[in-house]
Amino acid sequence: MKTGNQSSQRKRNIKCWACIVAGVIAQTIIILLIVLLVLRIRNPKVRLGGVTVENLKVSSSSSSPSFSMNLNALVTVKNTNFGHYKFKNTTLTISYKGTPVGEATIIQARARARSTKKFNVTISISSNNKVPRNSLSSDIDSGVISLSSHATLEGKVHLFKVIKKKKSAEMNCNMDVNTSLKQIQNVKCK
Ligand SMILES: *[C@@H]1O[C@H](CO)[C@@H](O)[C@H](O)[C@H]1NC(C)=O
Ligand SMILES: *[C@@H]1O[C@H](CO)[C@@H](O)[C@H](O)[C@H]1NC(C)=O
Ligand SMILES: *[C@@H]1O[C@H](CO)[C@@H](O)[C@H](O)[C@H]1NC(C)=O
Repeated sequence: MKTGNQSSQRKRNIKCWACIVAGVIAQTIIILLIVLLVLRIRNPKVRLGGVTVENLKVSSSSSSPSFSMNLNALVTVKNTNFGHYKFKNTTLTISYKGTPVGEATIIQARARARSTKKFNVTISISSNNKVPRNSLSSDIDSGVISLSSHATLEGKVHLFKVIKKKKSAEMNCNMDVNTSLKQIQNVKCK
């Protein structure tokens, strides 16, 4: 009787230890997965696409060459992380040869986990005597105005409602306005 009791107790003890070991292994795996997910938090990508031109006005007068237009663009914020990305209000700047010629605000929003947030922005653009004359008049004569867009989104990736990690996303795109067709060509984002 005594020995039987002892051996069943030993079996119970062994089972107990097996449970604890399995629990520890499971916990370690979960912690490792979380650490891996956190380490793999990547910068989201922000790009400009589907740009259309409205109200294009170009003056090629050699004394005061100028251009103005409205651009409608689709901004995409691609978030590949397993948590959502919440970003702050950001200024999107359009430049001609390094001189800002137009601005728009990207309004604070969140891009859901593993998805792409899309929104439209309208940017009114004007060369307004801000741009050096010589290069502008030769560009206008050639029929192509090259513009670039820049924005830096600042925000945080939120994981499991507890972990927040600062991440920024930078937009750097170039595009050409074909003034005879009133269209955008060669949109390239870095
Ligand atoms: C962000 O921009 C929107 C619209 O312009 C404004 O209503 C809001 O107050 C701004 N938020 C911050 C934190 O500045
Ligand atoms: C952006 O504008 C285009 C053209 O007006 C429209 O087809 C599209 O649905 C808009 N997209 C968003 C996300 O609002
Ligand atoms: C404007 O676009 C048209 C049609 O694609 C093309 O034939 C023309 O060469 C373009 N103009 C310039 C200056 O690239």
